[in-house]
This record gives sequence, C-alpha cells and structure tokens, in this order.
Amino acid sequence: GKGEYDHFMLKEIYEQPTSLAQAVEGRIDDGIDLEEFPPGAFEGIDRVQFVACGTSYHAAMYGALSLTQAGVDARALLANEYGASSPPVDDRTLVVAVTQSGETADTLSALRRAVRKGARTVTVTNVVGSTAAREADDSLLIRAGPEIGVAATKTFSSQAVALTLLAGRIVEDALAGDGLSDLDSLLAAADRLPGDIERLLTESDAAEIARRYRDSRSYFFLGRGQGYPVALEGALKFKEITYEHAEGFASGELKHGPLALVTEETPVFTVFTGIEDDRTLANAEEAATRGAPVIAICPADHPAADVADAHLEIPETDPRLAGLLANVQLQLLSYHAAELLDRPIDKPRNLAKSVTVE
Ligand code: M6R
Repeated sequence: GKGEYDHFMLKEIYEQPTSLAQAVEGRIDDGIDLEEFPPGAFEGIDRVQFVACGTSYHAAMYGALSLTQAGVDARALLANEYGASSPPVDDRTLVVAVTQSGETADTLSALRRAVRKGARTVTVTNVVGSTAAREADDSLLIRAGPEIGVAATKTFSSQAVALTLLAGRIVEDALAGDGLSDLDSLLAAADRLPGDIERLLTESDAAEIARRYRDSRSYFFLGRGQGYPVALEGALKFKEITYEHAEGFASGELKHGPLALVTEETPVFTVFTGIEDDRTLANAEEAATRGAPVIAICPADHPAADVADAHLEIPETDPRLAGLLANVQLQLLSYHAAELLDRPIDKPRNLAKSVTVE
C-alpha cells in the first residue's frame, strides 16, 4: 500500500535512497563489477545502440553519454523510430533495450529487429523474466522494486545509474583496457548516492517553488550533457501529471527557436551538472533577459544559484550523477505542482503503466 504517503508517486520518490543502494549493491568496489558481464564480455563491440521509449529513452540518452564521452560510438534511439530510421547493425553492434517493464511493444519490436540483424543484445529492466529479458542474449536488473505510479520515478534513477555502470564496463572492453576517466570520482559518487538523495529529499524547496510558479503559461526545462535528458524527463513528468504545457530543450537550442516563446510567464528550470556550466548559464541568462524567471538546479555554492530567481539545491557530486540528483528535484516539483492542481497523479488520464501496443 501507500503507507503514510498520499500517492504511490510520492512513496516511490522517497524510496530512492533504498532503490539506488540496491542498484549499486555489490557492483562497485575498486572498479565496476557486474556479475552479469565479467571483464572481456564486451570484447569486439565497436558500436552501441540503446533503444527505449518515454522515460526509459531519457535514461538511455543519459547512459549513452558516458560512452560517447569516453570515445565509444553510442546512440540512444527511440524504439518506435528504430525500424523507420534503419541504423546500421552488424555482429559488432551491441543493442541495449532499456525497458522498466520489459513488455513495451515498441521496444520489443526494436529488440527483435536487432536480433534479426545479428546484433549482440542486452536488456536493462526491472522485471525478472520479462519478455525483453527473455529475448535478449543477456540482461541487467535495475533492482528498483515494484513501481505502481504510472509516472516513472525511481525506475528512471535506477536505470540512469545502472546504465552508467554498464557503460563503464563496455568502455573497459571496447577500448581494450582504458576505462572511464575519473573512475574513482564516479565510484565514490555512486557510493554516496543514497545519502545524497536522502538529504535532498529532506531539504527540498520544490513544494514552495511549485506554489510560486503555479500560474505560469508554460514550463521550460533546459540542460546540457547529462542535463539534457534530465530536462526532457523533467518536462515529460511535468506534462504527464499536471496536464500543463512543459517542454525540455538542450540549453544551447533555446536561441535557435524556442526563445520566441519565452516571456515572464514561462519559468525556465535549468539543470547544471558541472559540464560546460558557464555556457548553460549564458543560455539561461538569454531567457532571463526576456523576463523569464530562471530556477537553477545546482549545488549551493554554484554561480548560477546567485543569479537565478530561485534555486533547487543538489549536493555536489560527479557530473555523471549530478543530473540524476537534479531529476529527483524535478520529480518533486512535478508532484507538488500536480497536487496543487488536484490532479489524479498516480493514474493520469489516457496513460497506461505498460504500453503493449505499437
Ligand atoms: O516499461 P518501459 O520502461 O518500457 O516503459 C516505457 C515508457 O512507456 C515509460 O517510460 C513512460 O514514458 C513512463 N511511464 C512515463 O512516466
């Protein structure tokens, strides 16, 4: 049941210190240690394609970045565009299906295409024995525990961390020994994650920020690097449960069109991860100049915290996990905004937890 919580969504947001501890348990020590994928498991792979939908697609984008940042050819693709875009696949291609339920029809269809084309396949899922887990060569469990709310919350966080660890293992094999840069920093950050989230949850100002901006016309979310999929996810969550208009953009794209929509009635939530933050700040300032309130999601002593109209604080951490922390603040923001509007939250109109039609 929901216990002391009004909604499953809030319960699941608050479960994240535990679900993330489970996601990394036994998987980090001096290096990344995945029982499912011992050293050498990804030898011969020179291209990685992630296929997924919705929130899982955002997690896939997030995970793909750790690979490209390390010099491995990787892309996240929408599973429902996979057939139409027909990207090259051969026996040196690893296709990773990212699906919480393991039953999403679009994702299964992309996975089956990859199998037909002779790719090596892996499913990253929350459900043991799900269709996607059974049909792929191997699977990696995210161990988030059951998620009841239609809006994916804790599963996104567990996917993001599991995919970042998986990316680390792929990099070690694909680049023959050269692992991720600053691996110690990443591992220490992964270890601190449950405590960091605990602190963030206790100290979050998301409810107050949701109240302050409740009468806005539209809600924008910006980010760069791992902050970009987080911006997309922040907007998806917001529209899904509040029924208000929200959009996520790569920070640098604002000036290429969306800036025309920016007014004093469009709060701009900007995620800072520590990757090219000065550029992201300049992008947020372009919105501020047009009168938009800017809400910075960043550590307390970050330069953006001073110049922004409001601030949602995240603990200082490795840039590859900072976006995950920022996303938890955005989950809370969406939750509180939906609550103020008296929305059903756990069962948004027109949506299903598992989409089993193409
Ligand atoms: O079970 P899956 O991860 O394959 O589901 C994919 C999407 O339908 C899902 O992530 C959806 O976007 C979220 N429930 C939205 O919150």
